[in-house]
Amino acid sequence: MLPYFPFGQQFNDKMGTYPLPESDWLIEVDQQYQNEITLKRQLLSTLPHYYYQALPGHEPAQWEVLELVLQNLVRFSPDSFTLHRNGNQWLWQNRILNEETTFTFGDMRTLPKDPLDWVGRQVQEDLTILAGNEATLVAGQLCFGNGWCLDEKIGLPFWQIHRPIVPIVEPMMLAAQKLMERLPVGRPVWRANWSVKVTDQLDMTSRHTSMLDKLLAEQSAHMTIDSIAEQLYVRVERQTLTRLPRSGAILFGIHTYQNLLAREVEERPDAAKRMAQVFSTTPAAMIDYKGMTSFLPILIRYLNNIHPSYYKSTS
Ligand code: HEM
Repeated sequence: MLPYFPFGQQFNDKMGTYPLPESDWLIEVDQQYQNEITLKRQLLSTLPHYYYQALPGHEPAQWEVLELVLQNLVRFSPDSFTLHRNGNQWLWQNRILNEETTFTFGDMRTLPKDPLDWVGRQVQEDLTILAGNEATLVAGQLCFGNGWCLDEKIGLPFWQIHRPIVPIVEPMMLAAQKLMERLPVGRPVWRANWSVKVTDQLDMTSRHTSMLDKLLAEQSAHMTIDSIAEQLYVRVERQTLTRLPRSGAILFGIHTYQNLLAREVEERPDAAKRMAQVFSTTPAAMIDYKGMTSFLPILIRYLNNIHPSYYKSTS
């Protein structure tokens, strides 16, 4: 079952942000940890400059992200991670991967990679940094992006990053822009984004878009009300926004989760009803943007046909 399920009574045209309480993790380590870290590292070793980019001048923010992420890992998964600090001499132990790293905090020469590039390889989240008045994307390690990549967005301010969707949800994006300007230190927020895909491939960065479009066209031609639940995946991103205290930049973290539609519907009694409510009220332009136009009518028919008692009586 997906750990986050952002489907309510209708399409949410608001930002959908909530405060992230002190007691909640910023970084989440789950059962996919090893698989996803292995995949991430493979992608980064194949195309390092595609999956990691950083503009010069924002190294202090990168160190802040490293500190925040490591502290968070230790706090919420103390059995798996340890951080020993002796002044600026830090020793990092990752027991899941059986790795140890020693470095001098603040000294780039002592880490094998840039701080963001190194710490991103310890976590399942994609990590990006936005800085300045317009919240410009200044650095990122993005392996599991959904339809975008760093080449397209690095150096762009928040507003331009969202250019393709501004005409569809302009009030939401205006509110989000204000949030980016005013987000206080010590008051992080989170939101969840959803999409529905024909594969559970995690890396959906733009270099895969034409292949994924082709797959969608092939698959959707063969979808029926009986087959669709085995052909679609619900993809949810848990996104966090944290103002970094020293640099004033913002860390935007994205953790991607996915589940086969059939499994989600089986595991969550009200999933079908909630998804039907949201999909049938989502503006057509947004459905199109999310690549759901070709299968939406069958999907809604399938969801509306589900009776929660069906699964109870057959399980
Ligand atoms: C409260 C903050 C935010 C809100 C409300 C928001 C909202 C959205 C929405 C509604 C979409 C359309 C995609 C979908 O719904 O599946 C989207 C896409 C996107 N968002 Fe955000 N977003 C926020 C923060 C950010 C930040 C900080 C970044 C920084 C990198 C970002 C990068 C993107 C990108 C790259 C896309 C895809 C745009 C494209 O298709 O070219 N978002 N966002």
